Amino acid sequence: MAKFKRNLITTALPYANGPVHIGHLAGVYVPADIYVRYLRQKGEEVVFIGGSDEHGVPITIKAQKEGVTPQDIVDRYHQIIKDSFEEFGISFDIYSRTSSKTHHELSSAFFKKLYDEGKFIEKTSMQFYDEKAGQFLADRYIVGKCPHCGNERAYGDQCEACGTSLNATDLIDPVSAVTGNKPELKETKHWYLPLDRYEDWLKEWILEGHKEWKSNVYGQSWLDNGLQPRAVTRDLDWGVPVPLDEAKGKVLYVWFDAPIGYISATKDLTPEWEKYWKDPETRMIHFIGKDNIVFHCIIFPAMLKAEGSYILPDNVPANEFLNLEGDKISTSRNWAVWLNEYLVDMPGKQDVLRYVLTANAPETKDNDFTCKDFQARNNNELVAILGNFVNRALVLTEKYFEGKVPAAGELTDYDRQTLTDFANVKADVERLLDTYHFRDAQKEAMNLARIGNKYLADTEPWKLAKTDMARVATIMNIALQITANLAIAFEPFLPFSMEKLNKMLNVEPLGWNRLGSTDLLEAGHQLGKSELLFEKIEDSVIEAQVQKLLDTKKAN
Ligand code: 2FM
Ligand code: ZN
Repeated sequence: MAKFKRNLITTALPYANGPVHIGHLAGVYVPADIYVRYLRQKGEEVVFIGGSDEHGVPITIKAQKEGVTPQDIVDRYHQIIKDSFEEFGISFDIYSRTSSKTHHELSSAFFKKLYDEGKFIEKTSMQFYDEKAGQFLADRYIVGKCPHCGNERAYGDQCEACGTSLNATDLIDPVSAVTGNKPELKETKHWYLPLDRYEDWLKEWILEGHKEWKSNVYGQSWLDNGLQPRAVTRDLDWGVPVPLDEAKGKVLYVWFDAPIGYISATKDLTPEWEKYWKDPETRMIHFIGKDNIVFHCIIFPAMLKAEGSYILPDNVPANEFLNLEGDKISTSRNWAVWLNEYLVDMPGKQDVLRYVLTANAPETKDNDFTCKDFQARNNNELVAILGNFVNRALVLTEKYFEGKVPAAGELTDYDRQTLTDFANVKADVERLLDTYHFRDAQKEAMNLARIGNKYLADTEPWKLAKTDMARVATIMNIALQITANLAIAFEPFLPFSMEKLNKMLNVEPLGWNRLGSTDLLEAGHQLGKSELLFEKIEDSVIEAQVQKLLDTKKAN
């Protein structure tokens, strides 16, 4: 890692066609944010990039359904998504959008450069055209009978009933979703990126160069099956216009322009954007969900390679999916916990959700989110372990030492053992964070609170207070050092609570490098006022959430 000078961390740009839900947070944004906060605490140079993906058919379909313009849709959801991320403490340096002028210019110029250098091939093909609507139909705009399972409402790219991916021409009796008319096949010309020409290079780059990638990314079979040229333009009227005279009415394929959005967002952030994108001493990491793997490991790298002046990702830590109460999260079936609604139902509990989503992160396989588990992790871990320990340490210090850190006297073997136990936490958490194992890293941090709890339970300062205040002083000193360590270790995971804890400790953020130290708080240091970090969630609150989900199920 030492060969890199700076970090460029990107997160998948969510489509601005609806709010974001817990699946987004668990799969991409919380892990990325943990990582970035960790790097920042270590004092590394880092930029953290996010933004809305405002093109593509999901947006136009939503607009059509509501009878408004695509611009109305993206304006509405861009704001909602941006606010949700902010409220959950996702600490982007910029949250941009692909309808921005910078992005249109940059993605257009990117295409033009590849075009001028002869990096595309041109092909004509027959595609469905809706005469009445006067437009070519994107795959999602064509519905018909699935040739595999007989579902009457299969889409031109996929049958959602049996999951088979389809070509529009496979559908039996296809009709246009725009007008209900039978579409005709009509000739159209498009520009393709010949991925086959990059196959050898991609194989070498990934299979030889990045054996350290997670197995769900490294093990993808795309490369084994051989790569085909991929169209990078579409017959649509919403998107970045193809910058060629002969391409009137065509736009860039959304998966061509969207990843360029990472570059344009960086350009919107800083005039020094090229330092991040063109200097091989920058380490670029893409945080994404598994449905985006091929775009970030094959197509975007091939685009970057074709362009020639940009760096390539060093890692693509993709996650699997999060299910909700045993069922796949689905926007169309409204089967999700939406972040904006969560904040209304559970005000102030952002960190609780961050914690639970990390504890249950779909890092190696799909995982399930349940309301019961949410409650259990809050009550049994955040409240009973972390919150309880911190509270005891602070309240006892208030009680016995007027909130001033007491000086430690002579240490017992048990004290020494406790100090050694937590001295290892730094190396353990670091190793896990450096390799993108966020759930284990968080577990390690929680172990530190467990050590603290056990220490207080074993030494029982409240009993000694009657007879041996010198010993109580030593115990409380050690408990407070552990507390200060927790404030460092948990900051990436629970930023709101650790900000609160820093206030209670009356310290500025202490910095990652001091994690594991036993002298974070000097004797005599005056602590702030203690408050509860977490509160118990009652059964009635969880039952209301479960009922809400059951109602959704019934409505489907
Ligand atoms: O899957 C999605 O939601 C896409 N909008 C992700 C785009 S990621 C990047 F390339 F912009
Ligand atoms: Zn089917």
